Amino acid sequence: MNVIAPSILAADITKLGEEVRTVDQLGAEYIHIDVMDGMFVPSISYGIPIVKGVREITNKILDVHLMIEDPTRYIEEFVKAGADIITVHVEACKHLHRTVSRIKELGVKAGVSLNPSTPLSSLDYILSEVDMVLIMSVNPGFGGQSFIPFSIDKIKELRNCIVAKGLSVDIEVDGGINLGNVGEILKAGANVIVAGTSIFSGDVESNMNQFRRELNS
Ligand code: DX5
Ligand code: ZN
Repeated sequence: MNVIAPSILAADITKLGEEVRTVDQLGAEYIHIDVMDGMFVPSISYGIPIVKGVREITNKILDVHLMIEDPTRYIEEFVKAGADIITVHVEACKHLHRTVSRIKELGVKAGVSLNPSTPLSSLDYILSEVDMVLIMSVNPGFGGQSFIPFSIDKIKELRNCIVAKGLSVDIEVDGGINLGNVGEILKAGANVIVAGTSIFSGDVESNMNQFRRELNS
């Protein structure tokens, strides 16, 4: 199933609750929450209290993208706060297998993310253990950047690999996605689409409806 995951990084923080309720009502399956620590990525966003707050106002799947160093330290707290999927970066984990196992032990879905320059081969021994791979199609840290074109080949290769191994792993893509390129991203094999700027700027309802049409076509 194709899923849309609006990234609330691009929402108006002064009316975050309202923005979350809007995309919830417009059919977003996931709410994508970007946690940044100012170490793994240059910027700092928000953390556990925001996940808790969003959990209180929606039953949708909370898709928590941890752009933080050594995320294992906080996995349990994010689960308690209400995360349904926790995605960690392979570049930020010294013991990725341990981290992924911990996420699953706590009863939530485990995702692993790759920065644009990180090769797919870093997933060789972990792919069968994860629920989702998040392909970053921009360098993480900021919303509103342009989609890096080579991400398309990376998505295709990853989908082929998942199919060849007989696995059912979701492929999420994050960064620079808009109505002009989402079709190609889906065709390459992605099934979870993160979009921040292209959902929350302008007319959210019309943006969501147009994305929905692309995802269903
Ligand atoms: C970037 C974040 C993204 C970001 C995407 O580091 O992981 O989720 O919000 O924003 P857009 O869709 O504006 O590129
Ligand atoms: Zn993200």
